[in-house]
Amino acid sequence: MMKKNLRFILFMLCIPMMLASCIRPDGEGHESRKEQPTLGDAPEHYYESVEYSYQTDVNVEKLLTGLDSDYLLLANKEYVLGADHAPASVVTLTCDTYLNKEVKLESRTAEALYEMMEEMHAAGVTDISVTSGYRTYSYQQGLFNQYLKNEMATISDDARKCFSSDYLREKYTENGLTGLDYADARVVVLSYSAFPGTSEHQTGLCLDFVSSGAILTTAFENTEAFAWLKDNAHKFGFILRYPKGKEDITGYTYEPWHYRFVGREAATDIYYGNLTLEEYLGVTNE
Ligand code: DAL
Ligand code: ZN
Repeated sequence: MMKKNLRFILFMLCIPMMLASCIRPDGEGHESRKEQPTLGDAPEHYYESVEYSYQTDVNVEKLLTGLDSDYLLLANKEYVLGADHAPASVVTLTCDTYLNKEVKLESRTAEALYEMMEEMHAAGVTDISVTSGYRTYSYQQGLFNQYLKNEMATISDDARKCFSSDYLREKYTENGLTGLDYADARVVVLSYSAFPGTSEHQTGLCLDFVSSGAILTTAFENTEAFAWLKDNAHKFGFILRYPKGKEDITGYTYEPWHYRFVGREAATDIYYGNLTLEEYLGVTNE
């Protein structure tokens, strides 16, 4: 009996080590690291003919100057950042954050965000705060491991989206198993969370918004904040990064809360062209 208990305790102690050893520094299981794409001819330029109007006193010159190709940095399952990548300049946000937590962003992204939030407030949208911005490689690693543990503990709605009900019933439910095995859990987690070293959050150029009752769920789609962001974020240089219907291109399920800063010109072309960043950069057919 004692021996059995000891074995169980040792096994439990080994689980975090097993999970950590499964995570290798770069894009494990993904293609090897690719050179960043260079922007060729954008499919269509809209920004030259768009009339931008603002309710607040937006400093347009500041919004537009000094943006280079770094702001088009592509981070996805193929374009791997690696463990050492970090933004050149990071600031702690002074705008509303969820539960007043400390959130950091790349400095120009933060400035554009402040202008955008002021405009949202002026438009009467006040139920909005930021919950996640710049994440270090190790933070993403912790997050990814936690998600793996969650998927191995229960059969979630995300698991039901990834696998057929027959597969889940035959492999798990009929065998009295209540959570996924490691391989299946990994498939599910990769549908909504970036593997460490591949997250756009590691660039500091993106952020997640929340509204009451819509904390990182698709319920955010039904908020006033989303309705405003959908049609105005591009004026401040932000794009909806993981749109509905483009999951095959971005590699992730729809995230109405996740916005990426690319600068006003690129954001305008992406918005009016109904594109993803991958399509804008011409890297979807590789
Ligand atoms: N949820 C996004 C894809 C990330 O983990 O970076
Ligand atoms: Zn995000």
